[in-house]
Amino acid sequence: MPSANGHSNGVSSHGIPTSCASCPEPIKYSGSLDSYEYFEITPIIGREYPKVRVTEVLNAPNAEQQIRDFAVIISERGVVFFRDQDDLNIADQKKFCDLVGKYSGRPEENGLHVHPIYRDPGNLTLPDGTTDENIYVINSEAQKKIYATMKRRAPTEPKDLSREWHSDSTFETAPSDFSFLKMESTPPHGGDTLWCSGYEIYDRISPSFRSYLETLTATCAQPVFKTAAEVGNYAMMEPRGSPLNVGDEFAPSHPVVRTNRITGWKSIFAGVGLHVTKINDVYNFEDQMIREYMLRLITRNHDCIARMKWTRNACAIWNNSCVWHAATPDTHLVDGVRTGVRASSIGEVPYIDPKSTGRREALGIPLI
Ligand SMILES: [Fe+2]
Repeated sequence: MPSANGHSNGVSSHGIPTSCASCPEPIKYSGSLDSYEYFEITPIIGREYPKVRVTEVLNAPNAEQQIRDFAVIISERGVVFFRDQDDLNIADQKKFCDLVGKYSGRPEENGLHVHPIYRDPGNLTLPDGTTDENIYVINSEAQKKIYATMKRRAPTEPKDLSREWHSDSTFETAPSDFSFLKMESTPPHGGDTLWCSGYEIYDRISPSFRSYLETLTATCAQPVFKTAAEVGNYAMMEPRGSPLNVGDEFAPSHPVVRTNRITGWKSIFAGVGLHVTKINDVYNFEDQMIREYMLRLITRNHDCIARMKWTRNACAIWNNSCVWHAATPDTHLVDGVRTGVRASSIGEVPYIDPKSTGRREALGIPLI
């Protein structure tokens, strides 16, 4: 039974929503992108359209159909790369990200995410010196300053970059579905971004353990925003892309396994990541064991990973409900500035449709 906010009232015996009222059935690809040249990044994850111009898609007579088809392809492949988007301005970047979510069954009251601490005076501005509440700016010069501070600390263990893996905005009740990042400038090398398929990680777990994971939720707490707002004496931004994303608690519980609303395939979601703080209702050692196992699957299965070597004005758009991503913090080793601008759409409250299956089962690909 749909509720007024576009979400389902159906909840499993484990307290996990079982459907998405705004997108009750998976969406099928219509073929509107067939004339575009592309290549797959790996057999499992990622696709690049080397010649597509996002501005041309936005202005096409069948723009809605094309954008919906892009939503399907991004959700099937996890992440899509575009190159040389020199003419894509911030307004069009926001528009494409918003429409990919809107045309693919996002709850209709939702929009682009607003970062909770947008008012923080330490936030970076856009390259032209302005700010936009829907755009998150990343910049390697800021990273270099952080590294300069860290150098003074004596390391107690070898570097561990596995903590970089995350899914955007999981600290929100309604997290991000699509994130769209454009790299405005980049050094000749360094700063690669990696994406890992949550579908494939799900498929590599034994069926009995998968069934158990489907009963679990995880707390995704991010207390730093509240502290930052208190120290800076400014108000938290709200609502943040959904009427459900309000307040300053930032500690929702999300299912460890979720169904992607567009493909209908199951993916590991809140079992691992920067914002995941605890698997609920298990002992501490079990929590640690489950999260370490998820992370081990990611770091020992690099055939589940797509890697972007950035070029100037390249873009990546991904579906956070079925991939995690990780930055490579090595730009302090090279000359040149890496500046990226990211918009994120806010999707539905994560759910598991009991009728959904893994990607391999849905496509008839044998499990390995
Ligand atoms: Fe991210």
